[in-house]
Amino acid sequence: MQEAIRKSEVLIEALPYIKSYANKIFVIKYGGSALLDPVIKKGVLQDIVFMSYVGIRPVLVHGGGPFINEELNKAGIKVEFKNGLRVTPKETMDIVAKVLSGVNQGIAADIKALGGRAVSFDALGKNAIKAKPHKNAAGMGFIGEVGSIDADAVKKAVRPRSVPVISSVGIGSDGTHYNVNADDVASAIAAAIKAVKFVLLTDVKGIMREKGDEGTLISTLTMDNAEKLIEEEVIKGGMIPKVRACTRALAGGISKTHIIDGRIPHSLLLEIFTDKGIGTEIVKS
Ligand SMILES: Nc1ncnc2c1ncn2[C@@H]1O[C@H](COP(=O)(O)OP(=O)(O)O)[C@@H](O)[C@H]1O
Ligand SMILES: [Mg+2]
Repeated sequence: MQEAIRKSEVLIEALPYIKSYANKIFVIKYGGSALLDPVIKKGVLQDIVFMSYVGIRPVLVHGGGPFINEELNKAGIKVEFKNGLRVTPKETMDIVAKVLSGVNQGIAADIKALGGRAVSFDALGKNAIKAKPHKNAAGMGFIGEVGSIDADAVKKAVRPRSVPVISSVGIGSDGTHYNVNADDVASAIAAAIKAVKFVLLTDVKGIMREKGDEGTLISTLTMDNAEKLIEEEVIKGGMIPKVRACTRALAGGISKTHIIDGRIPHSLLLEIFTDKGIGTEIVKS
């Protein structure tokens, strides 16, 4: 009995959040090793299906770096990064498109198995990302940046209880595939479809001052201070596009951006339905 009462209290505590987020779009980017672990993955997708059932409109953008590396290794192709960007010659690009398409279909199937609905956007089917060659990646192959987002197509997929699942391959004006950082894709989508919240799920607690030391987690960071930490090389590698994605999302009108740990069970629900919040929040000022 006590347990049942406690459960109803928890549900009632979430009511103000459920009310204020009804019909609001949340863009969630999910990547890294949090995608590899089936238990973690199921928890994340359960949270997303839950959100869709209580009236929130989640949009899921995913990467798939670890799976891509695995396939490249199998094919005997070198995995190479420069300035945090994956060197992407044609044969690598073909593998990226194929692998991310597989990841996309897998996520969509899992969402359906959990009772949700999913609409896939990937390089080999429907695509909503117009890409162009990345300006800082000359000679590094098919690395792209977002040119524009087909906002109408994504918005059409944002129906009650249906979750657009979007992979980070973009298409150039001549039909060429480009490998685009999934954090960048997510922020462009968030701005294009007027999301209210932007959440990056990753495989660390959030932004830390000392690498690997969770005691140095920064809970709130302004855009200006985030840029300073990039200059000071406190924020490095894969965390740089995340910070810049948050900055662009804020500039594009999204009010809340968060970098949280996808490995914590139900981190999305904790972030959304409690006051405390977890991970790092990036704010305008
Ligand atoms: N200051 C920092 N705080 C936390 N992580 C950082 C920081 N600087 C660099 N990183 C790195 O950024 C990584 C997250 O980016 P990335 O590997 O691209 O993950 P994802 O697959 O989620 O995009 C972390 O695993 C960590 O190694
Ligand atoms: Mg990354």
